[in-house]
Amino acid sequence: SLPVQSVQEIVRNGYQSVPERYIQEIKDRPSSISSESLQASLQIPIIDFSLLAKGDEHETRKLDLACKEWGFFQIRNHGVQVKILQKMKAAMAAFFELPLMEKKKFAMGANDLEGYGQAYVVSEEQKLDWCDLVALKTLPLEQRNLNFWPLNLPGFKEAVEEYSIEVQKVAEEINANLSILMGMERDGLKRYQGELKQLMRMNYYPPCSSPDLVVGVSPHSDGGSLTVLLQDDDIIGLQIKHKGEWIPVKPIPNALVVNIGDAIEIMSNGVYKSIEHRAITNEKKARISAAAFAHVDDELEIGPLDSMVDDPHRPPMYKKIKYIDYIRQVLARKMDGKAHTDLVKIQT
Ligand code: SIN
Ligand code: FE2
Repeated sequence: SLPVQSVQEIVRNGYQSVPERYIQEIKDRPSSISSESLQASLQIPIIDFSLLAKGDEHETRKLDLACKEWGFFQIRNHGVQVKILQKMKAAMAAFFELPLMEKKKFAMGANDLEGYGQAYVVSEEQKLDWCDLVALKTLPLEQRNLNFWPLNLPGFKEAVEEYSIEVQKVAEEINANLSILMGMERDGLKRYQGELKQLMRMNYYPPCSSPDLVVGVSPHSDGGSLTVLLQDDDIIGLQIKHKGEWIPVKPIPNALVVNIGDAIEIMSNGVYKSIEHRAITNEKKARISAAAFAHVDDELEIGPLDSMVDDPHRPPMYKKIKYIDYIRQVLARKMDGKAHTDLVKIQT
């Protein structure tokens, strides 16, 4: 990964116009949010997690449809206390507020997946995202690299730790439900995937004077199993590609956004969809989000689950691949708007 400048710093220092490297090709520029897309936004499923956890059949079916047709949904009544969400948001805000010199102590090295920096940059020509980030391995607790953690920032470690544990419980419960929906026992995915790990990517999108020229995060699909996103309650940023249109995911106060990652798409043999998404910026307010990626061990071979393959009616649609090899391929290619699962699709 090639190091690039902090966007927050560009904004802090003042700028006349958006620097060239951030200006997207015309086809990639976000158009302003249409009333149709806002209307479609209302269709993004909202799932009551407390019902899901009780095994409510109606809610389980809703989850099934959400994962098939949208790949994204919001969850209410997820059981993570508001106080924990607020502490997490405050911790992230405090981190990004630090002077650049402080944050640079945790800089992401060329081959690191962890630390403070910018999204993986693969070429000098590549357009850059209007975003700074800090990524941390959060679970299991004993595998954290605390040298990347701002341990002298009061409350940061505690807030992130508490939130990551809580949010992983949510991911695990969703996995248990998906296991049943995929024709296994509740612990089916857990037995296949092992204890899920977690990488937390915390994003800071500074306001931008020309939000119509830049993107906060370029279109991509998430490589892991499930992603749980914590976003600001009052700023629209996330957009998902649905039936060829970019649809905003309007925040619901204190809800969490969940999406299916590539690994589950592959394991479900294409039944559940890992959907392309991106984040856009706005002129007025910085936006902060935290994406918790629940993912399998690097060495695990992922492929369609036996329960999802039925040759010749439903042959395997994806090649088996070691998770780390998949992620390496994803990182090596510039995000070009294609869903990454193309990399392992079996051509028919
Ligand atoms: C991402 O999914 O990569 C970022 C999402 C967001 O900040 O809303
Ligand atoms: Fe993402």
